[in-house]
Amino acid sequence: MDRIAITGGAPLAGTIPIYGAKNSALKLQAAALLSPEPLVLENMPDLADTRFMAQLLASLGVEVAWIKEARTLRLHAADIASTIAPYDQVRKMRASFNVLGPLLARVGHATVSLPGGCAIGARPVDLHLKAFEAMGADIHIDRGYVKAAALRGLKGAEIEFPFVSVGATEHAMLAAVLADGETVLKNAAREPEIADLAECLNKMGARIEGAGSHEISIRGVASLKGARHAVVADRIETGTYALAAAAATGDVLLEGANAHHLDALWGVMRAAGVDVQEEPRGVRVRRNGRRVAPVDFETEPYPGFPTDLQAQTMALLCLADGRSRIRETIFENRFMHAPELTRLGAQIAVHGNEAVVTGVEHLIGAPVMATDLRASVSLVIAGLAAQGETVVNRVYHLDRGFERLEAKLADCGARIERLKEPRE
Ligand code: UD1
Repeated sequence: MDRIAITGGAPLAGTIPIYGAKNSALKLQAAALLSPEPLVLENMPDLADTRFMAQLLASLGVEVAWIKEARTLRLHAADIASTIAPYDQVRKMRASFNVLGPLLARVGHATVSLPGGCAIGARPVDLHLKAFEAMGADIHIDRGYVKAAALRGLKGAEIEFPFVSVGATEHAMLAAVLADGETVLKNAAREPEIADLAECLNKMGARIEGAGSHEISIRGVASLKGARHAVVADRIETGTYALAAAAATGDVLLEGANAHHLDALWGVMRAAGVDVQEEPRGVRVRRNGRRVAPVDFETEPYPGFPTDLQAQTMALLCLADGRSRIRETIFENRFMHAPELTRLGAQIAVHGNEAVVTGVEHLIGAPVMATDLRASVSLVIAGLAAQGETVVNRVYHLDRGFERLEAKLADCGARIERLKEPRE
């Protein structure tokens, strides 16, 4: 299994191109099921997860063509050949559950495996299923599968989510676009990826208003057409490289980044003493050798601090001159990176959903184990700042969400390489 070796201590300097957002791309891919005409997605991230989603779509009858040089994916669902997404596919990637809504809306029925638990907590899909039920679907759980049917079509409904869920908001939107009548989603998630999905669906002929606010209204249409859409810049990739530049010290331009999608992160980074500036081509992040200041923060739904940047920010604060408190309010069990960071000499005490990080002057390289996508990259960030060599094991987690990670960092002067063979 591949590993990544980093010799820490090299400052980062240069330009890092920011690609399309994985979390948006996966839902945009699912949207292709809604129309018999082609959906062309530009600025597509080429990742294990987006490749996997494309394979799942192909198994449902979608014609898939990657135009790699153009970073474009063309999806054509002229006919739906299958409405079944089996366990082996959904268990590998939770977002594949998102084919349920589009299949239900277009064909009237679907059988999709429940995603099951994952490393960062239970992550149920009850809100997704309640939304489909509100739209008139019959939902049964049978031997681990969700069997959904709306043979006379979905009906518009008013749905108030009891708490904010990105996935449920997107999934309800993906079904409501073809429902009969108006659907109103209250207490909707406001993440930029939701506005991106709505923008693409509207290009396909959907009538969605309010995406990006707490209330989204969707007037159902009889059918959708093809469209061409560029995936929004990945704010988590942006934030990750911003934190890497801060931890390793240096001066990096994140090209193509959308600064406005990360105000909560910039607030924390500036409080820590990092210089962050919006520039015409993206965002520039600079830090000199002075120690960062400690900062307290908690994760929240957008526009609050993203849970997907919590681990990476913790890596930076491990080097702070004082004590930081971090509260994780979105997922339980999302501090699995803490014991691994401790292996590098960090001082972190976790109590329930709160971590107290007492900064140290230096981290020291060590072998560590990646546990999930964002946790893995926090170990890379810590490794870039640490003295000596850090080897990150189980890097397949990184390949799910970061395209050309080692190349992008190496181009800025990081001493980082992928080890293809185990060295023992
Ligand atoms: C998405 C992102 C993930 C990010 C998360 C929060 C994708 C592919 N993933 O995940 O990277 O960390 O948003 O920003 O876009 N919940 C329920 N019932 C449900 C749905 C969710 O209880 O039916 C709970 C979850 O367990 C979690 C909370 O709601 O505690 C928020 O989850 P949600 O916003 O739905 O996250 P995802 O869409 O799964």
